[in-house]
Amino acid sequence: MRTQVVIVGAGPSGLLLGQLLHQAGIDNVILERQSAEYVLGRIRAGVLEQVAVDILDEAGVGQRMHAEGLPHEGFDLLVDGQRHRIDLARLTGGRRVLVYGQTEVTRDLMAARAASGQTTVYEAANVTLHDFDGERPWVTYAHGGQTHRIDTDFIAGCDGFHGVCRASVPRSAITEYEKVYPFGWLGLLSDTPPVHHELIYVNSPRGFALCSMRSRTRSRYYLQVPLTDKVEDWSDAAFWDELRRRLDPAAAEALVTGPALEKSIAPLRSFVSEPMRFGRLLLAGDAAHIVPPTGAKGLNLAATDVKYLADALIEHYRERSDAGLNTYSERCLRRIWRAERFSWWFTRLMHRFPNEGEIEHKFQQAELDYLLHSEAGARTIAENYVGLPLDFGL
Ligand code: FAD
Ligand code: DHB
Repeated sequence: MRTQVVIVGAGPSGLLLGQLLHQAGIDNVILERQSAEYVLGRIRAGVLEQVAVDILDEAGVGQRMHAEGLPHEGFDLLVDGQRHRIDLARLTGGRRVLVYGQTEVTRDLMAARAASGQTTVYEAANVTLHDFDGERPWVTYAHGGQTHRIDTDFIAGCDGFHGVCRASVPRSAITEYEKVYPFGWLGLLSDTPPVHHELIYVNSPRGFALCSMRSRTRSRYYLQVPLTDKVEDWSDAAFWDELRRRLDPAAAEALVTGPALEKSIAPLRSFVSEPMRFGRLLLAGDAAHIVPPTGAKGLNLAATDVKYLADALIEHYRERSDAGLNTYSERCLRRIWRAERFSWWFTRLMHRFPNEGEIEHKFQQAELDYLLHSEAGARTIAENYVGLPLDFGL
């Protein structure tokens, strides 16, 4: 088989890239290791920046997002038992975010993919990359008991942090920056009304918590937990009890509990690999970088990488120019480092670090005191939270 672009991974990055390329008349094949049901079963991000909303609109998959997504113009920080609202709209000149889950984004992209008639191979095993440092790369994979070969112009590595694409690059050609945090997030999804109409990020003496949502009837909550905890250690009742203890009395009182639809623990990591292009292999999304989830940047960064990549590939085919491909890494990385810095900073600001002493805790409380009682401080949080426009100062 031959195609113009082989996309490895059918998460949001791979599916979105496939759709943008298809709209531009560029033929592509997506190879995904898991089944479609498995991909849809992963509960992940919940907040879209305006820039991601615009890209999904451009991809023609915005209809349900606009009908069902919840625009949010602010969120609360709960610190020292007091809630402080960060008024995103007022502090950023009217900007806001949209609460619409990654599962739904993926579902919309899968529907568009099916309608496009482009090939997607789910349960593709042993995907292997060949000759991406030359003019004629090719990819092999196993499916249905047979090995298949696809010849291609480009390979897009949209296969997440544990994927094969970044791992196929010689170690000498890549620089990796990494920080692993000494705790995880235990998440619980339930069909219960959210405790508050906006998100609440909680800095409590018992650790971080987050009250989020997927709709007016579906809640998503997170608790900071030790890395040694296992999901099996946490009954639903234990989760709700612990969450209540981290909330202020009004929120604890208002909390509606119910059975968990899903519960899982995610480790927290900051990670960037540079560059993102290796000849005819281009990485995008979690394949190239990970942020700790505080601040909800992961999915948004994936969307902007993909937009830059789609534009660069379209320019290659339409205008016979590789200018966009040549600057792809640099363009992405500037935005990525901005989001990495914010996610690291917001994580530090809101969590209890087990290995740090009381003085670090006092510094953290003083920083929060400053931020929450200063217009400039609140604006710093708000500006970073709503994110950068697509073409920021380039
Ligand atoms: P992925 O969604 O990881 O998709 C990669 C795809 O590639 C997967 O479907 C995988 O099966 C496939 N794949 C992997 N290896 C291969 C292979 N060898 N061959 C073929 N296919 C392969 N972000 C937030 O903003 N908020 C959150 O609350 C949040 N929670 C998260 C929780 C977890 C547990 C994780 C892992 C991430 C979370 N994120 C969150 C980050 C966000 O979900 C990611 O940034 C986003 O999923 C990135 O999309 P992606 O398509 O680049 O990667
Ligand atoms: C969600 C996750 C986040 O990391 C965040 O900052 C906000 C919301 C969520 O899953 O709903």
